[in-house]
Amino acid sequence: MNLNADVRVFISFQTGGEELHVELLRVDGLRILQQVEIEPIKGINVFHGDNASGKTSVLEALYMLGRGRSFRGQRAYPLIQRGRKEFHVYSVLQEYGARPRAIGICRSTKGVEIRIDGSPVKRVSILAKAFPFQIVTPRSQEILERGAAFRRRLLDWGVFHVEPEFHTWHLRYRAALQQRNAAIRAGGTHVAVWDRALVSAAARLEAARDRYITDLSVSLDRYVHRFEGLDCPFHLRFSRGYPNNKTLAEALQESIAEDLRRGYTYYGPHRADFRFVCDSKGDAFDVASGGQKRLLIIALNLAQAEILQSRSQRVPIWLLDDLPAEFDRKNRRSVLEMIAGVSEQVFVTTTDLDALDVEGVSEMKTFHVEQGRLR
Ligand SMILES: Nc1ncnc2c1ncn2[C@@H]1O[C@H](COP(=O)(O)OP(=O)(O)OP(=O)(O)O)[C@@H](O)[C@H]1O
Ligand SMILES: [Mg+2]
Repeated sequence: MNLNADVRVFISFQTGGEELHVELLRVDGLRILQQVEIEPIKGINVFHGDNASGKTSVLEALYMLGRGRSFRGQRAYPLIQRGRKEFHVYSVLQEYGARPRAIGICRSTKGVEIRIDGSPVKRVSILAKAFPFQIVTPRSQEILERGAAFRRRLLDWGVFHVEPEFHTWHLRYRAALQQRNAAIRAGGTHVAVWDRALVSAAARLEAARDRYITDLSVSLDRYVHRFEGLDCPFHLRFSRGYPNNKTLAEALQESIAEDLRRGYTYYGPHRADFRFVCDSKGDAFDVASGGQKRLLIIALNLAQAEILQSRSQRVPIWLLDDLPAEFDRKNRRSVLEMIAGVSEQVFVTTTDLDALDVEGVSEMKTFHVEQGRLR
């Protein structure tokens, strides 16, 4: 099989339209990056260079555009270049049916200033809507090992982008939960008062999540089967955060004594979680190899991208940090081929251009990263 030809066909397929893509990126003062200005192409943009040259920092800058923070920790301080007071990220995005949008972010230790087309933006949800992306880093598979909150966040990111009311109900649910928890801590007299608000917000939130999970499971199964490296058909096992044989109202009522003892509301969609499970082998966390875990994360991201496209007609940007890590040649090829098949613009970092195996791909631009400067 000639992969390069396949990639070309797949990318051409997507670039036929005017899907979301970054036309211009400027970064200054973020970690090691100095006065970076690039014009990425539609297709694959590869950032290669030695360790510590600044490749991941470029992806961090792009991530900032959609989340207002970094994927390497919450604090701003480590991001701001030593000796400077702030960093800037500026980007021009183009998307079908819309005029070009400029997103600018200035981050200092005092806070973050975000502007879209010159107007200040206060809510990160607005930024997230403007710049949807899928990101896979060498640490992504850690979500299998870490707490449920990390998995829930990944899932809810997907729901947020395709269910218009999800964000509102999510906020209402959180507000009701906080009130109920405050009532618990105040002795429990008024706890039941908050149950109705909690249950009603939960119903809307869960309906959106359920629709998403249904689509996600189908799409994930398809991708999992396409990866030869996954010898076991892992599927998604979702748990909604309270016993399956009860309604949320029942679960809340029955656990009130426990909640009072614990000091917070135990059951509810705020405890939802998912696992990747293979029926014959068990939980991916226990049985999958490092490379297989990363393939599963890629499959999950592919499924999320597919749903975003089918339900919102939007194609996310892909950020792939250190793609060759943990993948053998065959898996690296199929990952790149599948991502190219569903995307318009991909940003990849690697220390070794040869290992990426992209020679001959026509829609490709390479940037050499050296001590925080790009060529
Ligand atoms: N606040 C900061 N000020 C200046 N330099 C910083 C700051 N934070 C990190 N760095 C430097 O930035 C570089 C890290 O950049 P980055 O993680 O993007 O490298 P990389 O090219 O992805 O490396 P690798 O191949 O090892 O993943 C290191 O040289 C680090 O010392
Ligand atoms: Mg790196």
